[in-house]
Amino acid sequence: MKNIYLIGFMGSGKSSIGKSLGLLLDYRFVDTDSEIEKKYGQMIPSIFEKYGEKTFRTYETEVLKTLELGNIVSTGGGIVESAENMNIMKKSGTVIYLQTTFDEIAKRLESDQSRPLWNKNPHKKKELYRRRNKLYLNCADYIIVTDEKSIEEVAKEIEYFLKSDLHG
Ligand code: S3P
Repeated sequence: MKNIYLIGFMGSGKSSIGKSLGLLLDYRFVDTDSEIEKKYGQMIPSIFEKYGEKTFRTYETEVLKTLELGNIVSTGGGIVESAENMNIMKKSGTVIYLQTTFDEIAKRLESDQSRPLWNKNPHKKKELYRRRNKLYLNCADYIIVTDEKSIEEVAKEIEYFLKSDLHG
């Protein structure tokens, strides 16, 4: 059994939707950010502050490489910054892009303090969003627009896609 990877911008709901989908499909749920924090013994903002984004990206690749199969995997928003990461995901599973509009993301992350790339580069947010959107679209097997949908609705839509994909 392969993995199901959820990709998308910060605040697109990857973790909440991943947990809900895990319950629906009876799959284990794994979050790459939590795996990094466990493996390297530090919180994400502290990794960014001490070692920088480049090192964080190598940690993401290490975690992806060592994941077991048969999981719902919620990924960090920047996982698609590395071609190697995209290849690993494409080869080992189905990739689902949770597409959320920029305005909705900005609303959800208004008072968020835990995401260095969102908090530290206010004037570059939109540019980052546009660039990433292209990468997510390139990498995805299936795209779901999440605006105005509940966590459960998105999880059910993914379940429906996965079942029809299996039989289609
Ligand atoms: C990042 C997104 C974060 C986390 C880190 C970097 C990014 O995860 O991996 O702060 O580059 O977009 P979420 O997408 O879960 O917020």
